[in-house]
Amino acid sequence: MIAVGSDHGGFELKNAICRHLEDRGMEYKDFGTYSNTSCDYPDYGKAVAKAVASGEFEYGILICGTGIGISITANKVHGIRAALCGDCFSAEATRLHNDANILALGARVTGEGLALKIVDTFLDTPFSNDERHIRRINKIEE
Ligand code: RB5
Repeated sequence: MIAVGSDHGGFELKNAICRHLEDRGMEYKDFGTYSNTSCDYPDYGKAVAKAVASGEFEYGILICGTGIGISITANKVHGIRAALCGDCFSAEATRLHNDANILALGARVTGEGLALKIVDTFLDTPFSNDERHIRRINKIEE
């Protein structure tokens, strides 16, 4: 189950991602925002991050204009490793190396076609489970 959220800057891309998840037959919950009306990205970043940290959702996808504000917000929540990705290499590496549990995207930076490929790469790449990566991830929380 995937938790999805955005501010107004990411609203259109969020809708495209939700349609894409439906096409893939994946279950998700849309935490909003639900219109183009200006709103505050921390509200949605926190809601999705808390939902993922609770264990109810395996992954989160967060979108704002740049992806920066909403990823900074998500990373304040204990247990969250949110990765802002603008390319598929980073999306694959952050799953393999960081076991990232939230993907952040910048809708004013990354076009829809690439964003959907990044989503697929993120969701389809398992964590490597390598000892060195587990050790490094544990050090993040120390
Ligand atoms: C909203 O204008 C914009 O600041 C927001 O979407 C995001 O880019 C913040 O980091």
